Amino acid sequence: MSSTIKVCMGSSCFARGNSKNLQLIQKYINEHNLEAQVELTGLRCCDKCSKGPNITIDEVEYNNMDTGTLYDILEKHFNKSGDTNV
Ligand code: FES
Repeated sequence: MSSTIKVCMGSSCFARGNSKNLQLIQKYINEHNLEAQVELTGLRCCDKCSKGPNITIDEVEYNNMDTGTLYDILEKHFNKSGDTNV
């Protein structure tokens, strides 16, 4: 199953957190070997700057993203937790 992550690269979102969020996503993809599963793309400003930083994962838009919240969302999305068997 593949996923698409779209990161708003408009100046407002980028300056307010998406530069760090983008780094986090890239690191997460690398560490979890998700390169083949995740398509990571940048978006231009979509006129929702006041709600930004904005990130869309599989057509679900997330607003006011910081790295902590983003990490939790990535974990829920890709690291289907619940089963803790190692
Ligand atoms: S810069 Fe992201 S919505 Fe405007």
